[in-house]
Amino acid sequence: PRSIFFSRHGESMYHLMGKIGGDSDLSPRGKRYALALPKLIKENLGDQPLTVWTSTMKRTIQTSEHLPYPKLQWKALDEIDAGCCDGKTYEEIEETSIRDQDKFNYRYRGGESYRDAINRLEPVIMELERQQNIMIVGHQAILRCMYAYFHNLPHEDLPYIRIPLHTVIKLTPKAYGCEEERYRFDI
Ligand code: G3H
Repeated sequence: PRSIFFSRHGESMYHLMGKIGGDSDLSPRGKRYALALPKLIKENLGDQPLTVWTSTMKRTIQTSEHLPYPKLQWKALDEIDAGCCDGKTYEEIEETSIRDQDKFNYRYRGGESYRDAINRLEPVIMELERQQNIMIVGHQAILRCMYAYFHNLPHEDLPYIRIPLHTVIKLTPKAYGCEEERYRFDI
């Protein structure tokens, strides 16, 4: 059986400032996560091949930096576009309570909704269905979409799925549904 690994990028500098969006570097802690990843994947896969997919953002590329496997960057894996709210903190974003009324469909001004993100992820999902072992080093909103697809979770719940930091989620697709294992790093 083939494996699909999901990981968010390690903690970023924007994270530390409580800001969303942007294209910041990893924090020192995020960099430690990047350094710790290869051992876990190697223990899991042995000598099996793997391809690592990232977004085009620095924080996912830096997180995958030490993984000794072929890599592919997808623009379609970039984090949900927060439009006018990019670079703000949640406290600075006045629309948060309106967004919460229908978070799946809420589109940031000049940006995207979760529904928009799912649409652009379609080619990624199609390709993922054709591939063997794949690791996606991605972003929280995007991994929520991917995770909901594989577990068949409803749209209303999707924007609230918890994809914790510094955790690898391993999915093993079966005839019906996916088996799941999680590996949490204390770093
Ligand atoms: O920056 C965006 C986050 O990864 C997703 O957060 O719960 O506001 O959609 P959200």
